[in-house]
Amino acid sequence: MRSRPSVTDVARLAGVSVGTVSNVLNRPGRVSPATRERVERAIAQLEFVPSGSARQLRAGVAQSVGAVVLDLGNPFFTAVTRGIEDRLTPEGIALIVASSDELPSRESERLVLLEQHGVRGILVTPSSDDLDQYEALRRRGTPVVLMDAGLGTGFPTVAVDDVLGGRLAVQHLLDLGHRRIAVVTGPSTIRQCVDRVVGARLAVADAGLDPDEVLVEVPVPALNADEGEEVAHRLLARQEQWRPTGIFCVNDLLALGALRTLLRAGVSVPGQMAVVGYDDVPFASMLMVPLTTIRQPTHQIGWSAADLLLTLNASDAGADDAGRPAPEVQFAPELVVRLSSDPSRDPERASERDPERAPTRDRGPAQAD
Ligand code: RIB
Repeated sequence: MRSRPSVTDVARLAGVSVGTVSNVLNRPGRVSPATRERVERAIAQLEFVPSGSARQLRAGVAQSVGAVVLDLGNPFFTAVTRGIEDRLTPEGIALIVASSDELPSRESERLVLLEQHGVRGILVTPSSDDLDQYEALRRRGTPVVLMDAGLGTGFPTVAVDDVLGGRLAVQHLLDLGHRRIAVVTGPSTIRQCVDRVVGARLAVADAGLDPDEVLVEVPVPALNADEGEEVAHRLLARQEQWRPTGIFCVNDLLALGALRTLLRAGVSVPGQMAVVGYDDVPFASMLMVPLTTIRQPTHQIGWSAADLLLTLNASDAGADDAGRPAPEVQFAPELVVRLSSDPSRDPERASERDPERAPTRDRGPAQAD
């Protein structure tokens, strides 16, 4: 049995690019009649039907959007994906989600597959600063919206001010009196994490202190709980007088791992070590020691990115939008103080904060966040 003809076979027979075939299938208005006829002849000759896109072919309009996130195992991206779904579902548009696992090579593979699938656009959280593939996609007619990083790149972007987020986190630790703070950061290719460290340094400088004196930057290869555990072990191995008294992790998974190690080692949090994360994923408030963190409007990030993409589709903005400034949506981060940094958030001490909230036996401890 002969193998099914691919979009590449059609492109080769018609003498055009894969992106042009994708445009003929999904955005025929963008292709000259002569080219469109050549491609349609090749499709007929090869009896080509894009896999999984037969309905799109009939519908003449792509009824799916692709999204490539950094890590599907991170609850942050689960919440962002929920926001995307909630914007697309009323339009009858399906969402195809893939994970780059913070690997540029894997992100690239996923982008190629999504373009071949003929999606009407792609939402992506970049795994590196290399934007060439996004430009190529846009040129071939597949709009790209950057999610969670990409402000100022010239691409439509929905993101949070991560420099401000890093400042809020470390300013909070400085306000509590910490003067030796570990900053656990991820791969230098993850822009949003780099920006958080920039913010951390600005907070120290704003306090008239030397960032190189106050901060101990601890890079990790991946932004997950295992790496957070590992860093906490290394910090605990330091002699007491060289050990930081506060840890700022650039995401909540790292902070979860660090907390797990500290508590298992019998370290008092926040008494001996304060911990601050970033994201405010659902588990952050449910931990045995609720996590102080920087809240990102995760659902809004996803919803707004999908909405921006549909706006681009509507305005047919794609390869011909050269010269128009890329639309950007920037959200503000918010500091959420909980027990992992602030002893006064201990439910047993709520009366110090607000007599009304003093825990009573029948109501159980007041929520500490
Ligand atoms: O994936 C790494 C981090 O980038 C996530 O936890 C979230 O903070 C995103 O901005």
